Amino acid sequence: MGILKKISLNNYRNFKSCKISFNNKCNILFGKNGSGKTNILESLSILGKGRGFRNANLLNLIYKNEKEFFINSEFIKEDKIIDIKINCKFVQDKLKKISSVNDDTSKESLEFLNSSLSFLYFLPEMERLFVTSPSYRRNFIDKLIFAGNSNYNKTINKYKKNILERSKLLQKYNYDQSWIEAIEKEISKIGLEIYKIRSNQVDIINDNLSLLNNKKQYPYDSKIIIKDSFYDSDLDNQKYLTKLKNSRDHDKQFGGAKIGPHKSDFLVLINGKIEASQLSTGQQKTLVLMILIAQCNYLINIKNIKPILLFDEICSHLDSVNRQILLEMTDQFDIQFFLTGTEKSLFSFISTKSNFYNISEL
Ligand SMILES: Nc1ncnc2c1ncn2[C@@H]1O[C@H](COP(=O)(O)OP(=O)(O)OP(=O)(O)O)[C@@H](O)[C@H]1O
Ligand SMILES: [Mg+2]
Repeated sequence: MGILKKISLNNYRNFKSCKISFNNKCNILFGKNGSGKTNILESLSILGKGRGFRNANLLNLIYKNEKEFFINSEFIKEDKIIDIKINCKFVQDKLKKISSVNDDTSKESLEFLNSSLSFLYFLPEMERLFVTSPSYRRNFIDKLIFAGNSNYNKTINKYKKNILERSKLLQKYNYDQSWIEAIEKEISKIGLEIYKIRSNQVDIINDNLSLLNNKKQYPYDSKIIIKDSFYDSDLDNQKYLTKLKNSRDHDKQFGGAKIGPHKSDFLVLINGKIEASQLSTGQQKTLVLMILIAQCNYLINIKNIKPILLFDEICSHLDSVNRQILLEMTDQFDIQFFLTGTEKSLFSFISTKSNFYNISEL
């Protein structure tokens, strides 16, 4: 895994043109509200697959009234310089994100890039993780998995495609039995795989949270629990297929599928009894960041992956004790990270030599 050496933005969000060189480890972006701190973190996340950490509409990423944007970056991996170029422009009336790696746009190059870049990010709206919808929490867990397994989103997409296909088929008056059976077989196979991957990931994060707790770096004893009335550890293909078959009438009437990993939710229990949603705003934010740090710990120590951390507004809502715990933990990792905040002084707990960027002055 590598580090991002520099970035240059053209017609991207509020930046007409801007160039920044980064520190190998700690980069702190500070400045007034609206100066573009989140936009810069987002531009880094767009170097990877997709439309960045806010999953934005591509049109909103282009500087107002312009027609295209460019993001260029130098990425260093095993002492090699890799030139990443992103251009977003209209191709036959459709906005397209075009990525190249050392001026090569082949599938292999892009796959190499995607497997080389791993991001873990925190956005201010994630403070509400425990009080928002189950789909937001599923997405959160899936993004953590994706940071360590760049193929995982293919599995998720394949699953969604099959659910959709089954729904369409069920709407037909006289559907083909062997066709629906084939789709349900596929759903059951991929569904079980997703359940297994998520369940493993939750166990891993829980183990890493206890490690942090044992080291007294983190005051809560917290445990993530999967909430799913259909899933248990001895769910197998046969049970899955029977249940799918039995819910055809229901699914025909209500659409989608009554059962499966797209219905799971995740709870976090504190000290075995209090749900995370009962904690204060600052405590909830601390917990979300702890989960990210636990996942980071796992990626570095077990998977040998060094993710790049993009932590937006890491300090707001936190008292100085929690801020110190979180900043010191982040600082311990030998990885590159990017933190934002409105004031430079919020980051005094970081001991590493850091680069500070006043985004208001760019
Ligand atoms: N496509 C665009 N063209 C021009 N300006 C844009 C575009 N998209 C967003 N902006 C502007 O970019 C500005 C900076 O947004 P950003 O969220 O990065 O600020 P920030 O520094 O993170 O602020 P805060 O401290 O409030 O989080 C906003 O004022 C927004 O209106
Ligand atoms: Mg912001």
